[in-house]
Amino acid sequence: MAYRAVVTMDDLEAAVRLNAAFEGAGFETAMVSALDDVKAVVLGEDPDLLLLSGAVHEPAAARLLALVRDGRVATLGLLEPTDADPAAVAQRLGLTAAVVKPVDAEEMVALGRRLIERKQLQERTGILGDHQAIQEVLIKIEQMASVSSTVLIEGESGTGKELVAKAIHDLSPRRSKPFIAVNCAALPETLLESELFGHEKGSFTGAAERRLGRFEIADTGTIFLDEVGEMPPATQVKLLRVLEEREFFRVGGATPIRVDVRVLAATNRPLKEGVATGLIRADLFYRLNVLSIYLPPLRERRSDIPLLVRRFIHEFSKQHDRPFRGIEPAALQILADAPWPGNVRQLRNLVESMVVLAPTSEIRPEDIPREIRDQGRDRLLPVRVPGMHREVAGQELTYIVQSLIDLRLQVEDLRRRLEEHPQRVEVIEVPHAAPEEEAEEGAEVAPAGTFASTRGARSRDAVVYEAGMSMADVERATIEAALAQTRGNRRKAAEMLGIGERTLYRKLKEYEAAGGAAISTAT
Ligand SMILES: Nc1ncnc2c1ncn2[C@@H]1O[C@H](COP(=O)(O)OP(=O)(O)OP(=O)(O)O)[C@@H](O)[C@H]1O
Ligand SMILES: [Mg+2]
Repeated sequence: MAYRAVVTMDDLEAAVRLNAAFEGAGFETAMVSALDDVKAVVLGEDPDLLLLSGAVHEPAAARLLALVRDGRVATLGLLEPTDADPAAVAQRLGLTAAVVKPVDAEEMVALGRRLIERKQLQERTGILGDHQAIQEVLIKIEQMASVSSTVLIEGESGTGKELVAKAIHDLSPRRSKPFIAVNCAALPETLLESELFGHEKGSFTGAAERRLGRFEIADTGTIFLDEVGEMPPATQVKLLRVLEEREFFRVGGATPIRVDVRVLAATNRPLKEGVATGLIRADLFYRLNVLSIYLPPLRERRSDIPLLVRRFIHEFSKQHDRPFRGIEPAALQILADAPWPGNVRQLRNLVESMVVLAPTSEIRPEDIPREIRDQGRDRLLPVRVPGMHREVAGQELTYIVQSLIDLRLQVEDLRRRLEEHPQRVEVIEVPHAAPEEEAEEGAEVAPAGTFASTRGARSRDAVVYEAGMSMADVERATIEAALAQTRGNRRKAAEMLGIGERTLYRKLKEYEAAGGAAISTAT
């Protein structure tokens, strides 16, 4: 299908020339003048590209741009030689790109096509933003998708690293093959190795069956190693071998396994700093950092905030079936100025809560939680409860409800992530006992009957996860190990586990009620 371009007639000579060039290149074109009912033309034509041939600083241009401001349409502005910094002008006016006249018509057609295709890429990948930094990320994604080299994606939490990893996979020749994500921070060393490389039957206590690792499952596809900076040193050595040889052993295995997997890795903290502090092997860093993409924090690309807010309002008003007009300019200004330590994720969650909660069909400044309105505060989860002596004003109540919704959204986000990766179970290592207290190898480590009802092999000082254990099993095993450590002292065990004694007591009661053998305690 032919692309559609709408050209404004502010500079008639340029407009006619460009219109002809676009038409000659197979575009469907329309010229609009200030006298036209621009709204009808722009909305009716449903253009892919809006080309402002001149007068970009006039109010009419701003009105025209406002019609297409949710970012689906590429906008290109032609500037006068007096406009010194085209990138800055584009940023300020919300143009996708700006070029200083005189321009070559063929070049403009090529640029227009590129801008349209980039917009389509953004629609396809969900990576929104007109800021130069995001446009550069998109160019890199396009370039990197076609090859199989390792890519390191860096950026603060919530800046879109996973979105970028998925985009690279989806645009790559591997798109119909598996995309497997592993969170390297969620598992302790032994479990992470078994997760990544699999294990042979009987390779460790509890390895009842052979299990394929994520590298094998991702064969011919892509593996996404999230939070790679948290990987334990021994696992780093094994990963390095896979990156160098494309070959690894299952845990307890003797036969090397070859895979064809593309590796994408992400980290919240600059990996190079990890090398400097000795947490990351330098050779691994160089292997991961073959190609790299950096996602800037939202506060460094504030000009994208209006576009993101409008898109999120549109998305959530549809999702929650709440007809919404949009956002008042003053409210948008507050959002554009806020610090956003949680980046796009935080903005997105906040917009959802406001769409659900705002009493009118437009977000007003007073609908924005106070800690976002108070500039410069860097707290993600505000909890401000009014003092007992004060009345809870309606606005404050709304604020509390908003905070709660924000909390709910974050919890849901967490839950979704857990559900997406159910096998990632954290095992709590209980600290070693003093040597004289240590039980003999294989000796019973707690009062008889204690462990009879739960699965999983464990010794006095560690809890081992084995296939098939549920989170509840792991929790129970951990509590049992802690109690064994403290010789049944509930207070000390609770302290060690970082939970309240009452919580521990309640859990013990639950286990009893669930029909398991009672866990002996001394207190
Ligand atoms: N450029 C963007 N355009 C639209 N949505 C975005 C963009 N960047 C991030 N998001 C949204 O923000 C949320 C967080 O993105 P993502 O999970 O990719 O971040 P991340 O960098 O992996 O975060 P973390 O380090 O916490 O894992 C998602 O809902 C994602 O869709
Ligand atoms: Mg992520």
